[in-house]
Amino acid sequence: MSRTVYVNGEYLPEAEAKVSVFDRGFLFADGVYEVTSVLGGKLLDFEGHAKRLQRSLAELDMPSPISTEDLLEVHRELVRRNDLDEGMIYLQITRGAAGDRDFVFPDPEVTPPTIVLFTQSKTLADVPAAKTGIKVISIDDIRWGRRDIKTVQLLYPSMGKMMAKAAGADDAWMVEDGEVTEGTSNNAYIVKDGKIITRHLGSEILHGITRAAVLRFAREAQMVVEERAFTIEEAKEADEAFVTSASSFVMPVVSIDGVSLGDGMPGPVAARLREIYLDESRKAAV
Ligand code: PDD
Repeated sequence: MSRTVYVNGEYLPEAEAKVSVFDRGFLFADGVYEVTSVLGGKLLDFEGHAKRLQRSLAELDMPSPISTEDLLEVHRELVRRNDLDEGMIYLQITRGAAGDRDFVFPDPEVTPPTIVLFTQSKTLADVPAAKTGIKVISIDDIRWGRRDIKTVQLLYPSMGKMMAKAAGADDAWMVEDGEVTEGTSNNAYIVKDGKIITRHLGSEILHGITRAAVLRFAREAQMVVEERAFTIEEAKEADEAFVTSASSFVMPVVSIDGVSLGDGMPGPVAARLREIYLDESRKAAV
């Protein structure tokens, strides 16, 4: 079935939706994005994603082409028009197309940003991987220094997933100066003696919206949370591990570089947090 997508104020059949070859997203990866999940036709953590989007735009001196109120309406309209029950909404805003290739930013008064949104129908909640866990490998983190901005520069994360696949694993954790930064498209956590350990916020990682929610739920459930860097060696000796993201929620990790964690099955902390996150997010969905 052909999707209806949103491009610069219009709802169009996907085959008719077009962006210029001069678009700076295409030529310079000069753009930002968000992924918001949908369960039961409703949006999870919309406000958090909208806030982070505004921050990403501001950090890159890109004007926002849409208000948060209108953005919510576009998300809802796409859910309606595509009859989306479960899946994701992808949003991308670039610095637009100035009609030629030039490293210098165009004047935003003359060149408006390009905004695109589309739906992706996918089972997210009831996935087999949540019961078996995933395997990760570690790779060097060679990304740029502003990983707190959600830019569309995703070549290295994409290569990381290919390296994982080639190694018979499901995903990769990136390591800088011996310490884990994050997963290729998720935040990384370990659990040791009941304590949940995840890297502190900074420019080295994306400030995950799911991370913020999961840590809040963990603290509300009286779990101990430590926000600090951990090494890959410490991770291999952990009792359990997991990742979080808008599309995977809380996903248990059962092996790192071929080393099984605990009994090789998803741990109780990850399982409990997934359950709480899904329950609470469904309740708060808009
Ligand atoms: N990725 N870290 C990185 C590098 C990410 O790309 C993501 C999200 C996260 C988790 O952030 P959040 O909880 O806000 O989704 C952390 C999205 C899902 C993606 O690229 O598809």
